[in-house]
Amino acid sequence: MTKFADIKGFVFDLDGVITDTSILHGTAWHQLADSLGVAWSEELGNGLKGISRMDSLEMILKAGGKENDYTEAEKEKLAAQKNTNYVAEVDKMTPANILPGMKDFLDSLRANGYQLSLASASKNAPRVLGKLQLADYFPKIVDPASLKKGKPDPEIYTKGAELLNLPPEQCIGVEDAAAGVAAINAAGEVSLGIGDATELGAADMVFADTSLVTLANIEKKLG
Ligand code: BG6
Ligand code: MG
Repeated sequence: MTKFADIKGFVFDLDGVITDTSILHGTAWHQLADSLGVAWSEELGNGLKGISRMDSLEMILKAGGKENDYTEAEKEKLAAQKNTNYVAEVDKMTPANILPGMKDFLDSLRANGYQLSLASASKNAPRVLGKLQLADYFPKIVDPASLKKGKPDPEIYTKGAELLNLPPEQCIGVEDAAAGVAAINAAGEVSLGIGDATELGAADMVFADTSLVTLANIEKKLG
């Protein structure tokens, strides 16, 4: 088992970890599901966390038994419609939308010489980081368009460690989604989950909220 002293880098998810955009994604998908006549549930919403745009749409259509009702071109249009609504909300964001404690955590990682990369499934990640004024912290971003498979496949976290030139076991992956924790574990990194301990039970460590994520608390858990 990796010890705290072995850790050299952090590979971050974005939505729901650094900022509260998971709520905005959820609202935009909920609106689209309503317009398609697909019943929304908290379970459906949670299952979409960490999942790429087109895979999310497929999951919504499947939940409503409508997976065969649309052509690829129509699906592209539906996904674009969701994205337009989402981006309109993102454009209202400011650094006040950084989740509690996350700016301090990022500063402490920098001050202590850890390397950082971003492993977000979102094609809007650079835009979101810009709004939060955090782009400087993440010069190394995995391009989600380069991925063969999305989370829970390990590819995005494997690439996140590669960007840092670090072996996976020297990296902590930070996630709010079960699919993301599965991806981190499969990549051989240490998984840090933020949120509900039952939902994120597969993580090596879970913190109930972002304000608890500090180097001191991570050291306590890893030893
Ligand atoms: C993930 C979110 O980070 O990015 C998902 O958790 C979202 O909810 C996915 O669907 C893709 O985002 P985007 O911005 O490319 O549609
Ligand atoms: Mg997330």
